[in-house]
Amino acid sequence: MNKTILVTGGLGYIGSHTVVELQKNAYNVVVVDDLSNSKKEVAERITAITGEPVKLYISDINDQDDLEALFELEAIDGVVHFAAFKSVGESVNEPFKYYANNIGGMIALQKVMNKHRVSSVVFSSSCTVYGDTKQSPIDETHPVVDAISPYGTTKIVCEQILKDLCKHSGVKGVILRYFNPVGAHPSARIGELPLGVPNNLVPYITQTAAGIREKLTVFGNDYNTPDGTNIRDYIHVVDLAKAHVKAMDYALTMDQEYDIFNLGTGKGHSVLEVIKAFEKVSGTDLPHVIGDRRTGDVEQIWADASKAENKLEWTCQYDMEDMMDTAWKWQQSLGAG
Ligand code: UFG
Repeated sequence: MNKTILVTGGLGYIGSHTVVELQKNAYNVVVVDDLSNSKKEVAERITAITGEPVKLYISDINDQDDLEALFELEAIDGVVHFAAFKSVGESVNEPFKYYANNIGGMIALQKVMNKHRVSSVVFSSSCTVYGDTKQSPIDETHPVVDAISPYGTTKIVCEQILKDLCKHSGVKGVILRYFNPVGAHPSARIGELPLGVPNNLVPYITQTAAGIREKLTVFGNDYNTPDGTNIRDYIHVVDLAKAHVKAMDYALTMDQEYDIFNLGTGKGHSVLEVIKAFEKVSGTDLPHVIGDRRTGDVEQIWADASKAENKLEWTCQYDMEDMMDTAWKWQQSLGAG
């Protein structure tokens, strides 16, 4: 019998792409999403890609009664847990909102999973747990340090809660530390839907090219990197989503208590290289200026992703131009309404 996977935050950016890949790999998928940073119509768009209906519960996972009712109704075998707030800047201004929602959500979920004896979980974490590192490529053994934001704190605390439960309560957890997810589904039916002015580079680029923003500001060109701009490990969201299927397969069968994987391409790109790739695939000149450094930005970070490649038998298929091409097609599909 096919296994049933609950995806929390399954209508969000990474969640929706993961639902597509889980369905394509014969998992039954149930989604819970509170629509705080997503739209209900994403469920229909997923169905348009996979041909499978999405069983959707519109609810906040912090609502223990609702979550309990869901687990009563559905025979859940495993959980991919995305549902969380993710804006680094907002978390600095509203830390308690982040602690309550992200850490509270993890606790509520684990309580209900424990009661219903669901032990397999894949958790959406971030390379932000490595802090302001000077060392790249960075592997999973690198120490988790003081968080650079309350958002980062919530990822560190949730990882720690999960590890405790794995050590002492029979939970089987896979922690995935994402580098910089970008791009969109090649069908242009799902992608990122940033609320208001985007904080992240790629949606800002595509909105600028679409004429929604006047120009992109590059946050500093005086870093100690070849062209002076920050370096990140950008990974296509579909490659990332596919890693979640591998991680779920593993979580359902693993012997060890928990495991941790970096998800990136293992290659770094500077901000100016990303702009250049975008200009090439879109055939546009992107209006941009050099501005001041953004507080809290790490100079350069990219992944050693060899553990995921070897142990999960996962590799990235999409390169930087594919990332920009799909992001641009998605933006244009939004522009067309
Ligand atoms: N950048 C610009 N201009 C912009 C936006 C971004 O120059 O308008 C630059 C940033 O300075 C940075 C790069 O583009 O060098 C990428 O910035 P993003 O905001 O897209 O991504 P970050 O690397 O800052 O943040 C990402 C995730 C966070 C996570 C963090 C971990 O969005 O959730 O990685 O390092 F915490």
